[in-house]
Amino acid sequence: MKKLTVGILGPGTVGGGAYQILVNNHDLIQKRTGVSIEVVKLLTRRPRSEYPADLLTDDPDEILNDPNVDVVIETMGGIQPATSFMIQAMKKGKHVVTANKAAVAASYEELVMTASENGVKFLFEASVGGGIPVLTSIQNPLSGNNFTEVMGILNGTTNYILTKMTEDGADYENVLKDAQARGFAEADPTADVEGIDAANKLSILIALLFGKYIAPSDIPTKGISHVTGQDIAEAADENCIIKLIAHAVLKDGKISCSVAPEKVPISHPLAGVSNEFNAVYITGDMVGEVMLYGKGAGALPTGSAIVGDIIDIAKNL
Ligand code: HSE
Repeated sequence: MKKLTVGILGPGTVGGGAYQILVNNHDLIQKRTGVSIEVVKLLTRRPRSEYPADLLTDDPDEILNDPNVDVVIETMGGIQPATSFMIQAMKKGKHVVTANKAAVAASYEELVMTASENGVKFLFEASVGGGIPVLTSIQNPLSGNNFTEVMGILNGTTNYILTKMTEDGADYENVLKDAQARGFAEADPTADVEGIDAANKLSILIALLFGKYIAPSDIPTKGISHVTGQDIAEAADENCIIKLIAHAVLKDGKISCSVAPEKVPISHPLAGVSNEFNAVYITGDMVGEVMLYGKGAGALPTGSAIVGDIIDIAKNL
């Protein structure tokens, strides 16, 4: 039986979800891939009683420099040291799988080039849309299209807040606390509510859809912290609903893009995307319009996307 060994940098919410899936569904995955995938090390700064003690380490080199680790899952969050660790791992011949949209969007070209130069895979399906297989779809079944437009609800926290404000008239601050408690929000929720997280994800989508890298800081970005109950009521009067939309259009060879609260007509498929759900609405010249929908945040949905990337590596061993 072939074996693939995995080290996880940061087994918190998302890394913990991936760990749980790899352990609980080990036999199923082995049956489907012919590979036994085993988590052999977890890098954590603090003791974590939910994991076997012999797997824990607080020394990154025990994963990055261990020739017995084949794949590194990076779920630490933040741009550094996560990016340096991923580059170090790839230079040591390890495949890297990450959910870290901030790090991928900040150093997209360097990370992709490092993978290519070292003959390893760098996969980041979990970085956009949580459990929705959007990046894989763009790169495989949809890759015969010229893409012209993408509209996405890419942040679960803000979609959850806007849904509760719209449906229950809930108070912004209380719903934000609720979203944090449910594990959707970033450690610093400013990235969610000010649209920065969605801009990171849009930057990644643009790179894959249009083959051009646009840094998140170059995407005009507005969040939802100034959206009021009155804005929501006025939109409703126009048969619209307010959603935080990450939007990019390719026209005459030029890309225009933004992240902002937009009034979406209630007849549009994106209007029905509620709570922490995400959706990506893509237009291609051959396929027409496609919407991919699912849970955009949370331990197990995001863990599911990470495990999907690991399975891709296992199948290509
Ligand atoms: N904070 C992010 C969200 C997590 O709310 O969508 C998933 O990337």
